[in-house]
Amino acid sequence: METDKLTTKQFELFRDFIYRHSGMYVDASKITLVSNRIRSRLKAGGFKDFSSYYNYLISVKGADEVEQFLEAISTNESFFFRTNSHFEWFKHVFLGEMIARSMRGQHPKTLRIWSAACSAGEEAYSLAICLAENSLRLRDWKLYILGTDISRGVLETAQRGVYKKRSIEGVVDARVRRNFDASKDGQTWTIKAKIQETVEFRQHNLMNPLSVPVFDCIFVRNVLIYFDRASRKVAIRHLISQLAPGGYLVVGPSEGVFDMLTPLRKLSTFLYQKPEILV
Ligand SMILES: C[S@@+](CC[C@H](N)C(=O)[O-])C[C@H]1O[C@@H](n2cnc3c(N)ncnc32)[C@H](O)[C@@H]1O
Repeated sequence: METDKLTTKQFELFRDFIYRHSGMYVDASKITLVSNRIRSRLKAGGFKDFSSYYNYLISVKGADEVEQFLEAISTNESFFFRTNSHFEWFKHVFLGEMIARSMRGQHPKTLRIWSAACSAGEEAYSLAICLAENSLRLRDWKLYILGTDISRGVLETAQRGVYKKRSIEGVVDARVRRNFDASKDGQTWTIKAKIQETVEFRQHNLMNPLSVPVFDCIFVRNVLIYFDRASRKVAIRHLISQLAPGGYLVVGPSEGVFDMLTPLRKLSTFLYQKPEILV
């Protein structure tokens, strides 16, 4: 029974499985990390070694385990107001522009925002907090934020909206007090209902199209970095097709997609806009 570290052959089988199911491409340099993460699933399910776990995953009976496996492999790290400059842009520039457009009769009083690969909801709720901080200006608007992720486990956490200190560490106290209820023991913070109700969470794999009405702004950050180039291209095509004319795409600092964003117009290192009229 060998559960110390994957052999090269075993690693390749798992790597290809992960790629087929999520678009994530795990480099051979991560063999120890992947071995450790798979070992946690072995323990949870009582599997005797890597091979029997792999055989289970690819069998019909293993279908339910696939999600848990992908969750164990993924990096789900996130926190509120991660890369705060993106939220500053959203709050001060984007919202101002959308309000101005609506005053000119060029946009209905609706906003549709997508946090794609939202992990446990920190990004989606940060956007909802930005909207709440503009509630006066947006008081008769219809606001909708969609948070999606491939992993059902993180979405359940998002739905619960209960977070530990680490998730809110960088958030100023006043913002925490306004938007969270602290537990009696001071160990967890629950997002307030008025923030939660703006956000809907749904499972979605970025490798597949999402067939819903288009969005005014999409955040896709710290996820495509784990994909190979071919998968990134597929995901980006789907994201662009979900963007409204004149809508904005916000990308993470190392997403590696700058040369696949045609026909979007580059506005800064993190910000791209879809033209109003495609030529
Ligand atoms: C590091 S988190 C990023 C969370 C957030 N966007 C942020 O920047 O903090 C990456 C998330 O991508 C999700 N993910 C990985 N592959 C995915 C896929 N093919 N479709 C949707 N989500 C995926 C993971 O489950 C994980 O929650």
